[in-house]
Amino acid sequence: MDITKILSGLRLSSTLSAPLYLQIATALAAKIQDFTLPTGTKLPPERELSRLLGVSRTTAINAYRLLEERGLVSTRIGSGTFVSNDAPTFSQQTPTMPWEQLFTPGYKAPLSSIMRSLIDSPTADETISMAAGMPDPAFYPLDMIHSQLDIRRHPIDPTDLGLIATEGYLPLRRSLSAWQTRLGNSASADQILIVSGSQQGLYLVVKAFIEPRDYVIVESPTYLGAIQLLESSGARLLCLPPSGKIDMEIFEDYLVRYRPKFFYTMSDFQNPTGRTMTLAERQELIRLAARHRLTIIEDDPYSQLYYGAPPPPSLKQLDTYGGVIHLGTFSKVLFPGLRTGWVHAAPTVINRLAQEKQYVDLHTNNLAQMMLNTYLVEDALPAHLSSVRREYKKRRNAMAAAIRKYCGPLMDFDLSEGGLYLWGRMGSSVSPSELLRRSAALGISFVPGDAFYAHGLASHEIRLCFATHDEERLIEGIRRLGRALSAVSATASTAAESAGRPII
Ligand SMILES: Cc1ncc(COP(=O)(O)O)c(C=O)c1O
Repeated sequence: MDITKILSGLRLSSTLSAPLYLQIATALAAKIQDFTLPTGTKLPPERELSRLLGVSRTTAINAYRLLEERGLVSTRIGSGTFVSNDAPTFSQQTPTMPWEQLFTPGYKAPLSSIMRSLIDSPTADETISMAAGMPDPAFYPLDMIHSQLDIRRHPIDPTDLGLIATEGYLPLRRSLSAWQTRLGNSASADQILIVSGSQQGLYLVVKAFIEPRDYVIVESPTYLGAIQLLESSGARLLCLPPSGKIDMEIFEDYLVRYRPKFFYTMSDFQNPTGRTMTLAERQELIRLAARHRLTIIEDDPYSQLYYGAPPPPSLKQLDTYGGVIHLGTFSKVLFPGLRTGWVHAAPTVINRLAQEKQYVDLHTNNLAQMMLNTYLVEDALPAHLSSVRREYKKRRNAMAAAIRKYCGPLMDFDLSEGGLYLWGRMGSSVSPSELLRRSAALGISFVPGDAFYAHGLASHEIRLCFATHDEERLIEGIRRLGRALSAVSATASTAAESAGRPII
């Protein structure tokens, strides 16, 4: 038995969500259980295993440790690691389900683990997380929640706690349409569908409109959640070239050549770049879209978080042909756990989306909808918005000043006029993932730019959220980022010099 051959034939993948040690242990366990590695076989020492598989020694040690815990191998000090004499055989093991084989053939989002780790509470530990687009819990309107939960002050009509219309709690649809109309996005209640966050709104739109191989135009970079959803639907993404503004020639070329199903965009304070479309760009977009009967999905979590002048009118407001579907959410302005957002579109579209929503959750949680309705009816939102705008503006300014001070010439950025992010651009010799590794060791995090590009385009950018922490922690976070960046740049320069390459 050539054990080296057996082991070097093991297939490992760094893109799978399972860690490498677990992949190795699982593969070895399978070989033990099908007797390819019979009882008593001496396994290679950890150092040799790590060399054979091209992994670190710690990974090899952890794999053996796990197999030992499961009783499949035993370690004899001074002799090595052996397949146990009493290794449980297949017949002795509890039968397991081959889940992976039973799932429908599906898209494996290479970035889904990024999304999940972003959602991990950024304030739960000592790490200064500038990764997730999370508002600061200190600004959550707790007074409103406490008052709403006081049933004596706000008696609940028990019939409101039963099943309600999929489209949403009618009083909320009315108060939301009044709020949107006040902002210029004129809406009637039958044009509003309440959804469990705008991510669900986007999901319903994709379900209703997209068939595999349909084309969709997206900006580049764009929201990670949209890339994942669209790719999982089988859509083909037409990416607009990264630039400060939309290239209308390419946009029209896409329309004529590919007849895309829709254009997905964030017109205000885009995630991740913070960019806002000019009024002229919006008007030109609408002109082209109207001419080609193109649906536009305007995803708008950030328009009310402006730190200077309010942004220009939304695409929905400028819509001359009824083709804009507007997605809104309370996640960024109130709190993300509320899971309440809305879709504003033509009643025909709302009906179709409601049908899709019915298959998913019947309707969005009543209590959250009732709470929001009172909040809107009492007109408490404008004061809350003024207060968070004031605070986030201070934080944006603090982060910007700290980047200039600590990251100096190594990082460039444009000052976002709203939203939650600064988009840092670095030299092409700096690898954002290497920077993230070093930053994690210093107790800070951010999102590497690659996450926001479809088609795996390499990026030398990072997204920094300035909303989650107060100014003092943000400045400390950026000071550490500066240290990590200097170290990564110095290493990159040395490597380039020793390779005789010019340093860019
Ligand atoms: C552009 C964009 N769309 C949608 C969402 C999801 O929002 P919600 O919490 O309402 O589902 C986010 C959250 O970060 C976002 O940035």
